[in-house]
Formats: sequence, structure tokens, C-alpha cells
Amino acid sequence: MRKTIIAGNWKLNKTCKEAVELVTELNREVSQVTEVDIVVCPVFTALRDVSDVLVDSNVKLGAQNLYWEDAGAFTGEVSAPLIKDAGAQYVIIGHSERRQYFGETDATINKKIKAALAQGLTPIVCVGELLEERESGDTEKVITEQFKGSLAGYSADDVKRMVIAYEPVWAIGTGKTATPDQAQEVHKLIRQLLADGFGQETADVVRIQYGGSAKPENITELIQQPDIDGALVGGASLKSDSFAQMIKNCIAVAK
Ligand code: 13P
Repeated sequence: MRKTIIAGNWKLNKTCKEAVELVTELNREVSQVTEVDIVVCPVFTALRDVSDVLVDSNVKLGAQNLYWEDAGAFTGEVSAPLIKDAGAQYVIIGHSERRQYFGETDATINKKIKAALAQGLTPIVCVGELLEERESGDTEKVITEQFKGSLAGYSADDVKRMVIAYEPVWAIGTGKTATPDQAQEVHKLIRQLLADGFGQETADVVRIQYGGSAKPENITELIQQPDIDGALVGGASLKSDSFAQMIKNCIAVAK
């Protein structure tokens, strides 16, 4: 019912030349895949070059962030219209690294989502708890607050145009993946929050990705969980063979 979506977040990695090499190799393997939605998210400076490689490909392009104003005196920022102009269809919003290092809050994330939707970009909205929050039993409270704050004021129709990513911060880049059961528990909570806030029909169609040390070895078990609809992949998306293998493993799972 929900199509699996695998997105590669390349974070602050790859020159334009390296990005083109990576996406060219990936495209060779998976450009005609239709069973799974595939997205790659390079740095801003490589968006255009990567977009040129993806003409006629089923692999789609995303950015890693945006600013909520469209244009003006905002030195150093990149807006939704410019991201769209560079060929992107998706944008990651509220990644924990942006919350942690760049002062993003649920309120700024909320504004960024609006800017993305206004341009027809699909926001990948990230939520996730810190290790100390998990250890003190606050996971549900933290996820609920982030979810409600980020999506405050949106309609069911808006939310249907989004993807949610659950990324436990303690699992990002650590090699320590959430177990399928731990991940499923939070995905189920997010599905319930979707139903409570935006109706069951919305909850049934919105895809929820897992992120945090996802790799070829664990992706199958993760996406076999009923509420896990894909992955937002960091490290394992930086090599075409591991990312392509994850996609193939997802195709093999009949959902
Ligand atoms: P890793 O897959 O490197 O743990 O990163 C996850 C992530 O932050 C994706 O957005």
C-alpha cells in the first residue's frame, strides 16, 4: 500500500566531480527501478550536476536543507525555488544535525516545511531522540513534541505530501542501529500521531523512513516491520554498491 522510499543523505561529502561519479555508478545499477522510490541528496553545490545525470532516471534528487524565505537579503541561504530550479523534488528538513549544530527548532522546521510545499517539493521531515532522552524514558514525549511542533497548522492534505523520517540520534553514524523492534515501536507511535492529528486515511498513506546506521545487512529486517516504509541513509549511501544493494534488498521484500 505504501511504496518503499530509500533516500541517500550525502551530508557534507563529495565534490561536484565525486558526486557525478557516484550518481553515475548508482544510476547504472538502479535507474530503471520502479518498485522502490529512490532519492539522492547531495550538497547544494552539486545539485545541478547530479540533476543532469538523472535526466530519464527513476532516481530522484533532493536537497538537505532550505531557508524559508524565497529571496532577498539572506546571505548564505538557499531557498525552495532555487532548489527546485536546480532539479530537486525532495528536501530534508529538520535533520538532527541541523537541530544540534545550527540551532533549528520545531518552529523553524515548521516554516521550512511551508516553503517546501509552496514549491511542490516533498519535505522529508526528521524527528528523533537523543541517547539521554531514550535512557531517561522520554522517547515518546520527545517524538510527540517534535512531531506536533513541526507539523502544527498543517492540513491532512499537506501532510499527505510529506515523508517523515525517524532518526534516533544515538544511532546516526555510530554503527549502533536501533533494533527492528525499537524502530517499529517509534514508527507505530508516529503512525498513531498521524492518525490522531490528521485522520486514519492520512496515517495509512504517509511513509515513515528509518535512519541511523541503516545498511545492506540490516535494511531487510527493518523494512519488514509494518510501519517502516523505507530508510534515510547516511554513510552507506556514499558508495554506489552498498546503496544499490539496499535498494535491491528492499525490492526483494514483498510489502
Ligand atoms: P548514518 O546512516 O550514517 O548513520 O546517517 C543517518 C542519517 O543521519 C541520515 O540522514
